Amino acid sequence: HRHLLGIAGLNYPDIATLLDRADEAVDISRQREKKKAVLRGLTQINLFFEASTRTQASFELAGKRLGADVMNMAVASSSVKKGETLIDTAMTLNAMHPDILVIRHGAAGAAALLARKVGCAVINAGDGAHEHPTQALLDALTIRRHKGRLDGLTVAICGDILHSRVARSNIILLNTMGARVRAVGPSTLMPAGIAEMGTEHHVRLEDGIHDADVVMMLRLQRERMAGGFVPSVREYFRHYGLDAAKLAHARPDCLVMHPGPMNRGVEIASEIADGPQSVIEEQVEMGVAVRMAVMKALLDPRRNEAVAP
Ligand code: CP
Repeated sequence: HRHLLGIAGLNYPDIATLLDRADEAVDISRQREKKKAVLRGLTQINLFFEASTRTQASFELAGKRLGADVMNMAVASSSVKKGETLIDTAMTLNAMHPDILVIRHGAAGAAALLARKVGCAVINAGDGAHEHPTQALLDALTIRRHKGRLDGLTVAICGDILHSRVARSNIILLNTMGARVRAVGPSTLMPAGIAEMGTEHHVRLEDGIHDADVVMMLRLQRERMAGGFVPSVREYFRHYGLDAAKLAHARPDCLVMHPGPMNRGVEIASEIADGPQSVIEEQVEMGVAVRMAVMKALLDPRRNEAVAP
C-alpha cells in the first residue's frame, strides 16, 4: 500500500501533481452536485487521538465527496479510555478491512508505526511535532492560486516553530518547491537545528516579515509546553502578535495565513485575521480539495488512467 506519512520523501513533481489534482477538486467542491464515485465501495476510517476541527471535518467531507464509506472513530468514548494501546486499537480496526486509515496522534512517528502494521493506506493527519503533510499541501495550494507559483517567493513562518508540525511540513515543502523560508520567533520557541532545515532564523517579527510575500502565523501550543518556557500572552502579542503596524513591514500584497485554530489577540489581531490580506478561510476550503486529491492518488484503482476526481 502507498501511504502519505510526511512531505519528506516527496519530490517536486510529486507535489506539483498533487496540487494540480487538488485544483481540479476545488472545482468539484464548488459545484452543487459534489459527490463522485471515484472511491465507491472503499472504507475510510478517521482515527483522531488529538482534537481537530478542520482536519477531521475535511477528511470526512473529502472521503464522502469521493464516494467512500467514512467512519469517524470516537476515540474519547472508545476502549482507548480503558487502556487499549494505539497498536491494538489500530489492529482492531484493521480487522474490519478498511482501505484507508487517517490518523492524528500526539506522538511523532505514530502514523509510520501504523503503516508498518496495518493492511491499508495510512495518511498522517498530524503526529506530535513531526509532520502534518496535508496541511502543508493545502497551504501551498492556497499560495499557488494567489501568486501563480511557489518558487522564488519569500515565506515567513512566525511564532511557536518548536512545537509545530505545520511549520516542519511547510519548511520541507516550500524548500522543495524553491521558495525562501524564514523561521521567525523567540529563540526559546525555535527548534535546535532550524538552520540545517534551510531556513533563516529571525528573532524580531518586523525583520522576519520584511518584504515577505506570505506570512504564516502559528498558535502558541501551550498544551505542549508543560515544564518548558511559557510566554505571557501580553508580552507575546506585543512582540509577536501580527497587527497592522507589524504587517506594514511585509510586501503590500503579502498573504496572511494561519493553519488554525487561531488565538485572536495572542499571535494575530482580529483586524488582520479578518482583513483583506487574510486567506485563512480559503485555506480551509483548500483543505477539502487537497485531501480529495491525496486520497484519490493513494486509492483510485484507475489512477494510471489520468481520470478527473
Ligand atoms: N490546521 C489544523 O490541523 O486544524 P485542526 O487541528 O482543527 O484540524
